[in-house]
Amino acid sequence: MNEKLIAERKKILDTLGGLPEPVIENKEWLYLLEEETRNSILIEGYFLDEEELEKALSGNTAVSKSQEEAVKYFKTARFIYSLAYENYKTRDFLFGIPLIRQINKELGFEGDFRKEKIKILGAKFEPPENYIENWLEVYIEFTRKINKNFFNYLTVSHAFFEEIHPFKDGNGRTGRILLNYMLISNGYPLIIIKGNKKGKQLYYKGLEETDNQLFSTFKKYKNKPPEKEKVLSILKNLNSKTLKELILEALRESLDRIITARLEEKGEQLEPVGQILKKLGYSTESTRQLIKRGKIIAVKRKNIWFSNENLVKTFLEKTK
Ligand SMILES: Nc1ncnc2c1ncn2[C@@H]1O[C@H](COP(=O)(O)OP(=O)(O)OP(=O)(O)O)[C@@H](O)[C@H]1O
Ligand SMILES: [Mg+2]
Repeated sequence: MNEKLIAERKKILDTLGGLPEPVIENKEWLYLLEEETRNSILIEGYFLDEEELEKALSGNTAVSKSQEEAVKYFKTARFIYSLAYENYKTRDFLFGIPLIRQINKELGFEGDFRKEKIKILGAKFEPPENYIENWLEVYIEFTRKINKNFFNYLTVSHAFFEEIHPFKDGNGRTGRILLNYMLISNGYPLIIIKGNKKGKQLYYKGLEETDNQLFSTFKKYKNKPPEKEKVLSILKNLNSKTLKELILEALRESLDRIITARLEEKGEQLEPVGQILKKLGYSTESTRQLIKRGKIIAVKRKNIWFSNENLVKTFLEKTK
């Protein structure tokens, strides 16, 4: 997925009125929030299906541990994303240590920065033992500057947060909510990082790519606080191809959901992509290829890809 295809999608979303307000009355938004919740806690090993989540959210049945975790995640994300939406609307960016701590706390963790050494389960990388707040200040400054080269910044920002690993627990969930907070603040929908085995492996691989690039930097400041400017200039030149690709691909999926839903709201019809391509004179075999390459904005329903004729036509022309 290249960035240009994402930028073109964003333009289309903006002409359709931009990101819709993230309220659970919006069906598409609720779907994304629920899927994010299920996937994000699955990374930690808590599995629940759609039905169990619905039951937990309705709040009147006995809950399992997975359901408890899901409800905490859902509620935290819902509130934090409504703040992010206000950022987007007012073109402001509320961001800092209080916000980060509060997310961790609402998720059911301590909200205080750790005072002891920590290991990331399954990772070779060792987060810093000292100067957690100093590291976080670098993270905050870096993240506040997100602007040009948005997706590089976003990728590095998330990985850097995970490498600092400021809390005793809940760093993954806190970091993923922060990642979506940044996306929504900039007018993008939330993304879902897949929590199944394959998805998690890819996600961890992406994080490892930045681990390796930052290893010597963290080592250098083992016994003294990080020098802000120096670390910032290192972060600026970092990259994780895998993590960036994962983020872009996930964003494509969410954007396509929101765009097609916005069209439907406006009374436009969706029909099977195969049918549309046939009308436009493409061979039906090209359907899968075009979708895979991100050339078609579509949404999958009961295993069939749906889109809108006009949308397909203009997008194919634009991205020729
Ligand atoms: N090699 C790595 N480098 C940096 N961060 C990593 C690496 N491997 C995993 N992580 C991050 O650490 C998180 C796990 O940390 P922690 O247990 O504190 O968070 P959690 O929210 O409880 O767990 P989870 O994210 O699994 O739900 C992972 O989700 C991931 O974001
Ligand atoms: Mg954990």
